[in-house]
Amino acid sequence: MNIVIRSTFIHFVILLSLIFISASKLWADPPPAYEGRRLYVSYCQLCHGTGGKGDGPLAVSMDLNPADLTTTVRSRSDTILTKIITGRGGQTITGRVRHNLLSDAMPEWENLFDESQIKSLIAYLRFMSTTKFKLQGDPKAGMQLYQKYCHVCHGVEGDGDGIMIDLIGIAPMDHTNPNETNALSNKDIVKSILDGKGRFMPAWRGILTQSDAEALVSYIRLLAH
Ligand code: HEC
Ligand code: HEC
Repeated sequence: MNIVIRSTFIHFVILLSLIFISASKLWADPPPAYEGRRLYVSYCQLCHGTGGKGDGPLAVSMDLNPADLTTTVRSRSDTILTKIITGRGGQTITGRVRHNLLSDAMPEWENLFDESQIKSLIAYLRFMSTTKFKLQGDPKAGMQLYQKYCHVCHGVEGDGDGIMIDLIGIAPMDHTNPNETNALSNKDIVKSILDGKGRFMPAWRGILTQSDAEALVSYIRLLAH
């Protein structure tokens, strides 16, 4: 009796761990620029503004204008941006102290962000300073819809490597490749989502609304950075 119960229990544990493994494998970490945007909204936009132009609500009451990140970030290396954000080390190539480059009106976030969060923030700053497309829809809603409806073909990571591609012999668009997604306007992508494309990209009208499609576009834009 005891043995039976124990072996049933062991089966139960194995089953549970299998479910757990497959569930945890199904979802990748959010893409860096997506995570970076989340951090930016909480920590940076008060000064730098939602679009990064340096026009956040706190800017008016500051002596020094928060930088327009859409123009300054382009000329900064990742190393310098990391130093600017964390306040760690000299912030110029010659290693001089930070105030040779920035005043202390820009907070130092030394112990707040870990390495991967800093990389994410930089990915979003790069997205913001290069993209010509507006994020119209809410990327968070977009991510949830993508994980529900799109990953089977476009892949958990969005790179076009979904579980269904061999099954039906297709090569869906790689949403992590900006050369592919930047060729399409927001309107083009919304249209392809709602009306379908080619033989195997389904039309989602009826399942998804215009604003669902716009949310997906925002997520796809961030996936490519
Ligand atoms: C309290 C307001 C404030 C907040 C919050 C803030 N900044 Fe700044 N930031 C500034 C100011 C002011 C400057 C310009 C400093 C100067 O020119 O000396 C600046 C400059 C910068 C620069 C340098 C631009 C350049 O290349 O010249 C970067 C990069 C930057 N901020 C990123 C961020 C990031 C990322 C966050 C959020 C984690 C953030 N800032 C949060 C006020 C702020
Ligand atoms: C059954 C597989 C499948 C599913 C599910 C799927 N796609 Fe696609 N998708 C494709 C294929 C195949 C293509 C390439 C179509 C072509 O160019 O012929 C594609 C292309 C695209 C394109 C590029 C369209 C263009 O104009 O070139 C976008 C954007 C896209 N898909 C978004 C999505 C989104 C968002 C979802 C989830 C709501 C989704 N797809 C779900 C298979 C799929």
